[in-house]
Amino acid sequence: MMQMNQDELKALVGQAALQYVVEGELVGVGTGSTVNKFIDALVAMKGRVRGAVSSSNASTERLKAIGIPVFDANDVGEIAVYIDGADEIDPHGNMIKGGGAALTREKIVAAQSRRFVCIADESKQVPVLGRFPVPVEVIPMAAQRIVRQFAALGGKAKVRLKDGQPLVTDNGQHILDVSGLSISQPLEFESEVNQWPGVITVGVFAHQRAAVCLLGTAGGVKTLEF
Ligand code: 5RP
Repeated sequence: MMQMNQDELKALVGQAALQYVVEGELVGVGTGSTVNKFIDALVAMKGRVRGAVSSSNASTERLKAIGIPVFDANDVGEIAVYIDGADEIDPHGNMIKGGGAALTREKIVAAQSRRFVCIADESKQVPVLGRFPVPVEVIPMAAQRIVRQFAALGGKAKVRLKDGQPLVTDNGQHILDVSGLSISQPLEFESEVNQWPGVITVGVFAHQRAAVCLLGTAGGVKTLEF
């Protein structure tokens, strides 16, 4: 196979994810550049899916632009499958997510879905989570207290900025990016950080880990099942 760049690998796994979309049912749609490729591919199934539940305003706009009906999570029950990218994925399907600041809605839609299919290029595969700074959505008034709590765990947390100001999420909150952590116990880590006052969502997806990962590699799409 010809050498492919990252963009082409993303398109390859975006296309491959179509086989997991269930006809006549709902598809949960994540956020990011890999998911954008999936949304591009989903045009081919227009009219054959009931619709989508989206994890961000950005994905909602893209879905609507191609004519896929977008439902509010409150108006539907179980979603057949959730398709989303990741910033890192470990050998058990645990992930770091939130590079695109959509982690809270991503976790909500993932929790409402029967299974999580992760689409990623092979650069996202790691033996242990933590090389990518862990995004954490927080209530702004608690940010500095949470920065100190991460420092006690050996992490360095920084408020994510956009145009010199704290980035404001779709939920009106802020993001901390935490570097210097090695997350060998993702379930425990996620449970602990989740209960710190002011934390809305930690970008470790262990309780909502992937069931399948479609990994874009130089040799084509590799399917990992966890
Ligand atoms: C957004 C996410 C994305 O899935 C993650 O950042 C990967 O994005 P990309 O596909 O652009 O590499 O968690 O909040």
